[in-house]
Amino acid sequence: MTSPHPENRIEVHEGPEALATSVAGELLSRLADAQSAGHTPQIALTGGSIADAVHREIARLTSGSQVDWGRVVVWWGDERFVEPDSEDRNALQARRAFLDAVGVDPAHVHEMPSTADADDVEAAAASYSSTLREHGRGEFDVMMLGVGPDGHIASLFPGRAELDLEDRIAVGVVESPKPPPLRVSLTLPALNRSRCVWFLVSGEEKADAVARALGDADVHDTPAAGVHGSEETLWFLDRASASAL
Ligand code: 6PG
Repeated sequence: MTSPHPENRIEVHEGPEALATSVAGELLSRLADAQSAGHTPQIALTGGSIADAVHREIARLTSGSQVDWGRVVVWWGDERFVEPDSEDRNALQARRAFLDAVGVDPAHVHEMPSTADADDVEAAAASYSSTLREHGRGEFDVMMLGVGPDGHIASLFPGRAELDLEDRIAVGVVESPKPPPLRVSLTLPALNRSRCVWFLVSGEEKADAVARALGDADVHDTPAAGVHGSEETLWFLDRASASAL
């Protein structure tokens, strides 16, 4: 990405539990502030184990916060193209961990299509692009992204053609190097339409990818290097994922 962006900010936590508690607390505080200023915040969720820990912390901490989850709009950065009740679904993981418990308005929760909703990944991507055009606000307030050991974010993997799409919101992914093989992902331009981008990264196996993304890596080698918030790019790390910095 050649466009200017604010400096990356880095927070290093002791371990994944402290990291998850911190992200959840920060998100609740941002959402409460936005709502008290009269906004209906739009956030994007990610999958993976650290996201799951964050979601559980959101469920635990919500009752002590001022957040009205009925006035939060929820999106996903990517999804596995599988059956709606598959354990592989990022949306199922998030519903179980917090969405079902905190009182979201189902009309404000925009899951990516499953195999029950679309014939193939391209149709699913086209459908999600339309949903975002219709119900999005042109930018996300907070975009949360996990990072794989290879530096992937959402379902944008190193060396893949999906990284070069400039005129699409969402893309269908086939033969994903990480199973399951069929996925739907927002593109880099769509991920970059975010005020705040938060990377959630735990574990030593991510340390090199984190160092590359925060260095001068090419987006084709380390996709995480290609996403920045217009106002904030915040890396929530633990000691292990920060160990190569
Ligand atoms: C996927 C996951 C994936 C995840 C990262 C980090 O679709 O396969 O969503 O992109 O976000 O691999 O996952 P962990 O937090 O489990 O390391």
